[in-house]
Amino acid sequence: MEKLMIAGGTPLKGTVRISGAKNSAVALIPATILAESPVTIEGLPNISDVAMLQALLEEIGGEVSLDGQDMTVNPREMVAMPLPNGKVKKLRASYYLMGAMLGRFKKAVIGLPGGCHLGPRPIDQHIKGFEALGAKVTNEQGAIYLRADELRGARIYLDVVSVGATINIMLAAVRAKGKTIIENAAKEPEIIDVATLLTSMGAKIKGAGTDVIRIEGVDRLEGCRHTIIPDRIEAGTFMILGAAIGDGLLLDNVIPQHLESLTAKLREMGVRIETSDDQMFVEPGDQLLPVDIKTLVYPGFPTDLQQPFSALLTHAVGTSVVTDTIYSARFKHIDELRRMNAKVKVEGRSSIITGPTQLEGAKVKASDLRAGACLVIAGLLAKGITEVTGLEHIDRGYSQLVEKLEGLGAQIWREPMTQEELEQIEQS
Ligand code: EPU
Repeated sequence: MEKLMIAGGTPLKGTVRISGAKNSAVALIPATILAESPVTIEGLPNISDVAMLQALLEEIGGEVSLDGQDMTVNPREMVAMPLPNGKVKKLRASYYLMGAMLGRFKKAVIGLPGGCHLGPRPIDQHIKGFEALGAKVTNEQGAIYLRADELRGARIYLDVVSVGATINIMLAAVRAKGKTIIENAAKEPEIIDVATLLTSMGAKIKGAGTDVIRIEGVDRLEGCRHTIIPDRIEAGTFMILGAAIGDGLLLDNVIPQHLESLTAKLREMGVRIETSDDQMFVEPGDQLLPVDIKTLVYPGFPTDLQQPFSALLTHAVGTSVVTDTIYSARFKHIDELRRMNAKVKVEGRSSIITGPTQLEGAKVKASDLRAGACLVIAGLLAKGITEVTGLEHIDRGYSQLVEKLEGLGAQIWREPMTQEELEQIEQS
C-alpha cells in the first residue's frame, strides 16, 4: 500500500486537462448491459471505480476492451449472474447494475453497495421505483433480489431528490412496456449524460436535466459510441487549487456552466476567473474573503466540493460556515485539518472555519474520496511535509491526480507505507 507525500508551498502554474466524469462513468458502464451490440464509451477517467465496474461486467459475461481512455463493451453474451458479494460491495455505484440488469434480464441479485461513509445512504427510492415498474424486490442477507415477469411503465414521484435513484429508474424504465414518468427527478449533468447514451442506443427519453423525465419503453437497444462529459468535481477541485495556491491555472476540457455555483462563490471570495467555451482560467485575488456555503442538489453548490472547498477557507480572512444539507456526516476531514493547525470545528451539519491560518504539514488520513482531495489541497498549502494515507479512496475517483499536480509544479509523490503504518491500519 502507498501513501501520498506532499511538500507544500510551491505555487501551481500551467494547464491541466480534466478527465471524464466519474459519476457519469459509473452509470454509463452499467448502462451498456442494456444493449444487444457493442457500445463504446470515449474519454473514461483512469480510476479504480471504472476498473472495478469493468471487472463486474466481465464477471457476468461481457467482453470488455480498453483502448486508452475508450472502453468498448460487447454485452451480447452477458447473463443475469447473481452478484451478492465481492466487488459489488466495494463501490457505491454497483447499484446501477440493479437497474440495468432488471431492464435487460428482468432479474438481478446485487449485494448492497459500498462506497464512502458520509452518513446514512439509503436506496429506498431506487427500490420504490423498481417496485412501481412491477419488480418484486427483497433484501436477503445483505443482497437485493429483483425479479419481474414484465416491467410496466409507471408514474414515480421521488420523495428525495436522488441522482442514483433517478438514473437507476431510467435504466430499468427504458426497457419497460409503456410510459414512465419520473417526478421530482434529480437534474445533475450526469443524468443528462446517461440519458444521451441511452438515447443513442435507441431509448426514448424526454426531460433529462429537468425535474420531470418521461420515458417511452422500447423492445431493443443497440450499441453506439458516446463521449463522456468532463468531470465537474475534478474541475472544481482544480479551480479550488488555483484559488488556494495557483499562479495562473488553465483548466482544459470543462463545461463552465456545470460549475456556476462554485465560480460564483470563488468570485465572492475575490478569486479571478475567466471562462471560454471549454476552458477556465483561475488566479488568486489579493486577499481571500470568507464565505458561507450550503450544499444543495444541482445546480446548487455540490456536496462533493464542500470538503475540498473547506481547505481553501482556512486561508480566507475571517470566519466561514459550510453546511451540508445532503449528507449529515461528511465532516471526517475536519479532524485531519485540525491536525494541520486549522481552526475548524463541527456543529451539527456545519463546519465553522476561521482563517487565515498557516497550515502545517502532518500525517493525515483520507477517510473518503473528497476528504482526500481536501487533504491534498491542504498539504499543498501547508508548510513542510504532509503524508496522506487512505490513498485508495483518492484513486477511486481522481484520474492521475499525482501526475496532473506534478505537471503543474507541485512536489507530490507516492511512497510505500512502512511496516509500522500497515500494522496500525490493520489494528484500526
Ligand atoms: N437518498 C435517500 N434515499 C435514496 C437515495 C438517496 O434518502 O433512495 C438521500 C441520500 O441519503 C442523500 C440524498 O438523498 O442524503 C442524495 O443522495 P443521492 O442519491 O443523490 O446520491 P447518490 O446517487 O448515492 C451521487 C454521487 C455522490 C454525490 C451525490 C450527491 C455517484 C456514484 N455518487 O450519489 O458522489 O455526493 O450523488 O450529488 O454518482 C462523490 O463523488 O464523492 C460522491 C459521493
